[in-house]
Amino acid sequence: MNKEIEKTIDFVKDFFKDDISGHDWWHTQRVWKAAQYICEKEKADAFIVEMAALLHDIDDHKFSSVEDEKERSKTRKWLDTLGIGQEKIDRIIDVILTVSFKDKRHAIKPETLEAQIVQDADRLDALGAIGIARTFAYGAQINRPIFDPEESQEENGSSINHFHEKLLLLRDMMNTKTARIIADRRHEIIAKYLREFMDDWSGKDFLS
Ligand code: NI
Repeated sequence: MNKEIEKTIDFVKDFFKDDISGHDWWHTQRVWKAAQYICEKEKADAFIVEMAALLHDIDDHKFSSVEDEKERSKTRKWLDTLGIGQEKIDRIIDVILTVSFKDKRHAIKPETLEAQIVQDADRLDALGAIGIARTFAYGAQINRPIFDPEESQEENGSSINHFHEKLLLLRDMMNTKTARIIADRRHEIIAKYLREFMDDWSGKDFLS
């Protein structure tokens, strides 16, 4: 393995060692592996993709300007220690900033293939069996109920609602064909889970 990537893995592991927010090393590792796989199929720059995937959750990305980012970015400070050159550093940072737009209005397809891949990899981790686990873990953290039968689906409420409002939309937002295939399968797992959940909730087993 490339030695900058190896060093960065150690850096990220250490960075997340006390983290309980769900954006932990294991999330990063899954995103990195997914990004590697997609990158191989889609033929993008593997070094940029892997570094951006590994570092995508280090900063909170609430920078107000380019200068602000340069001043406060822990990611950039780390990259500066590696001696990989300014051009690569800027490309990695650019991917991370593109991927981390949380605002719906920014849900436009990233310009570079590298950013498209890392965004897909990050979104894939919100789907499937792990996506379900992460949704409830995060819900508990912010005091969200599992389900509220009184709420309408447009309201911001329960974890079950979060599946409808956000996670079930991700499949159609995948940038690459490779990710879309994986997303299809993981989407179905969530859809099936939601059907089972509502069956159990309504006591279907007791209606005979
Ligand atoms: Ni992430």
